[in-house]
Amino acid sequence: MSQINNTLKLPNGVTIRNRIVKSAMSEALADEHNNPTQALIDLFAQWGAGGAGILITGNTPVDRMHLEHAGNFVLDANSDMGKVAELAKAGKSGGAAVLCQLSHAGRQTPEIVNPHPTSISDVRLDLPGYGKPAPLTEEQIPAFIQKYVESAKLAQEAGFDGVEIHAAHGYLLSSSLSPRINNRSDRWGGEPLENRARLVLAVVHAVRGAVNKDFILAVKLNSSDFQKGGFDHEDSVKVAVMLEAAGVDFIEISGGNFEEPSAYSHAKKSGSTQIREAYFLDYAAAIKAALSIPLMVTGGFRSASVMNDAIESGKTDLIGIGRPFITDPSFAAKLLSGEIDRAPAIEESFPPADELPRGAVLSWFCTQIARVGKEGSADLEQPVVAGHEQYLAEIDNVTNKWVAARK
Ligand SMILES: Cc1cc2nc3c(=O)[nH]c(=O)nc-3n(C[C@H](O)[C@H](O)[C@H](O)COP(=O)(O)O)c2cc1C
Repeated sequence: MSQINNTLKLPNGVTIRNRIVKSAMSEALADEHNNPTQALIDLFAQWGAGGAGILITGNTPVDRMHLEHAGNFVLDANSDMGKVAELAKAGKSGGAAVLCQLSHAGRQTPEIVNPHPTSISDVRLDLPGYGKPAPLTEEQIPAFIQKYVESAKLAQEAGFDGVEIHAAHGYLLSSSLSPRINNRSDRWGGEPLENRARLVLAVVHAVRGAVNKDFILAVKLNSSDFQKGGFDHEDSVKVAVMLEAAGVDFIEISGGNFEEPSAYSHAKKSGSTQIREAYFLDYAAAIKAALSIPLMVTGGFRSASVMNDAIESGKTDLIGIGRPFITDPSFAAKLLSGEIDRAPAIEESFPPADELPRGAVLSWFCTQIARVGKEGSADLEQPVVAGHEQYLAEIDNVTNKWVAARK
């Protein structure tokens, strides 16, 4: 029995047509005013025709001063709503539900975008190119929460089916959960965990109260930061339970952050196929056991058999997949029809990460996303390092245009 073809009814009553979700992948295809370009719309039209049950946009900042990079599309009062509506329409054209991933990069905002970003604390990211952050003040917190509300309402107005609040991968809400980063002594930080979870819960409550009941509200959460003294698995289970009580429709589980980029692993792991492929699945199983709302697990899924087993054994409800959607934007339809039994996994043929420049695999995929949007397909023959260098040059270009537009 193919579990991935089954529909799924979310707590808000919306039915998802199958279990395959395109997870968020930052596209870097916005213009210098952070509006969607035609290439971004065309990319979503391809994904929209590709068979997935849900498509989630890449990082969509709620604050123009806290981008994840200069090429993000932003949803705020200055957005070109005509373009945003075209983007939503393109994604929905084939019957998928489309969610916008709302984020605030916090201390992971590149220095060139903002040399003094707002974060949960003043603990700086341990990587070059990121400035010393200033902690959110108590007075700034209501406006910070309101930014998510405004973006969610705009997403609804533009025709999106929902939003996913990004509380994973080290961005502001994720860093707020981490005892290593969130060293505040007020009610927004420190111990107990309820203090560190207060901000993400406040955002979820505010957004839930401002959108229609059938508007999907999801949260992306780390199963662990995989850092000593960071947000760990035990805390993750507890926060997931708090999110369920706050009215979330599903939770997506991932892991890591910029300092510890576990979400993009492509190293071959030992163990069963399931352990090798779906690296967060065992963590997720404990979270799933504590919840009654649906769970989505992302990272490494490639074989239909592993996906079906993961659902059948009750470890997850939705299967989040990223990179195969770049290699072949319509692989999901082929997997669901049985035409293929494994999603493309080109990263398995790449040299090990420690033989490549830092971040090379990720940036190779970024180059290919842009190619799918601009030219219709990825260049699967491009060597990893060449794709990496092309991305670095292109993001420089995008950043320079963005900086020039602000002078
Ligand atoms: C090019 C690229 C960009 C990504 N951007 C985001 C993002 O904006 N937000 C996010 O939550 N995850 C992002 N991810 C992580 C993916 O959603 C996913 O967790 C990761 O690719 C692992 O899944 P996979 O093995 O199926 O590719 C990105 C991944 C890639 C490859």
